[in-house]
Amino acid sequence: MVSFKTLIVAALPLLGLGLAQDETVTYTDKASGVVFNAWPAGDLTFGMALPPNSLTTANATEFIGLLTCTSPKGLGTGWCGVSLGGGMNENLLVVAYPSAGQVLTSFRWATDYTFPTVYTGNAKLTQISSATNATHYSVIFRCQNCLAWSQGGSQGAAPTSEGYLVLGWAHATASPSNAACPSAFRVGQHESQGIFAGQLNAAAVNPSYTAWAAKATATVAGSCGVTTSVAPAPKPTSQVPGVAGCAKSWTVRAGEYCYLIATNNGLSLDQLLGLNPGLVCNPLQIGTLVCLQR
Ligand code: HEM
Repeated sequence: MVSFKTLIVAALPLLGLGLAQDETVTYTDKASGVVFNAWPAGDLTFGMALPPNSLTTANATEFIGLLTCTSPKGLGTGWCGVSLGGGMNENLLVVAYPSAGQVLTSFRWATDYTFPTVYTGNAKLTQISSATNATHYSVIFRCQNCLAWSQGGSQGAAPTSEGYLVLGWAHATASPSNAACPSAFRVGQHESQGIFAGQLNAAAVNPSYTAWAAKATATVAGSCGVTTSVAPAPKPTSQVPGVAGCAKSWTVRAGEYCYLIATNNGLSLDQLLGLNPGLVCNPLQIGTLVCLQR
């Protein structure tokens, strides 16, 4: 479990001295032993641990991340996120928020300053640990295929061998709606945000990286489309079996992803997700029945 106290105490001297946001703190998570380069930024702290050689010979393709965000409205409230390329648009966004004692996460993608859609690339997030309390929530996670990204013809990368990363952060005190399902949650605009240069130093890389990464065994998926009701299911009203109220549907085939299915059928990704509340796009299971028209 992340010790908020340790993290905040570690950050205090920097905050007290009024140093710039891009100062690097070394933070060790006691439970897992993972050592991070961490950057206090506004209402959150983001940290990274990287595989050996990432600062010299080979750009990393993955990292172990630490995200600790404040909950000013109390236990289990708010959301926060980081942009792995700095700006909100056309960079891989990682959003995290507390929900029912867990911290749920979602990869997102924006092309303008509106609610970002689900990222359809092959980034993968597995958790090592998470914690929530009255003032903060925190998650430590392995992020694979997270340091290069592409969607809708745009691409970008966060090259670790340059010795620093341009990172962005966003924070909101209001909780998402539809929070149980990370691929279908909704939020309004964050209340604070910023961009900073995260300097990487020798503490970011460690020969223990592989052993640490192996601890990331938890896929924390939330409960998309899961109903706890024991009432008999209502009779489908449409001709398409399995998708109630749906006039036209599509069964997912190998190699297909939400964005592709949407564009193949003249829909935006948002429209497709609107037609299919709770649809999990990342990963999209082969054989899933997707509604295209109601
Ligand atoms: C409904 C949802 C959202 C809306 C309407 C929105 C809108 C905006 C706007 C208007 C700005 C510019 C602010 C300024 O320059 O004063 C901004 C910046 C930013 N947003 Fe969002 N945002 C949303 C969600 C997100 C999410 C989920 C993230 C996840 C990380 C994010 C990350 C950022 C970052 C890092 C910046 C600062 C860098 C930049 O200006 O590009 N935003 N957002």
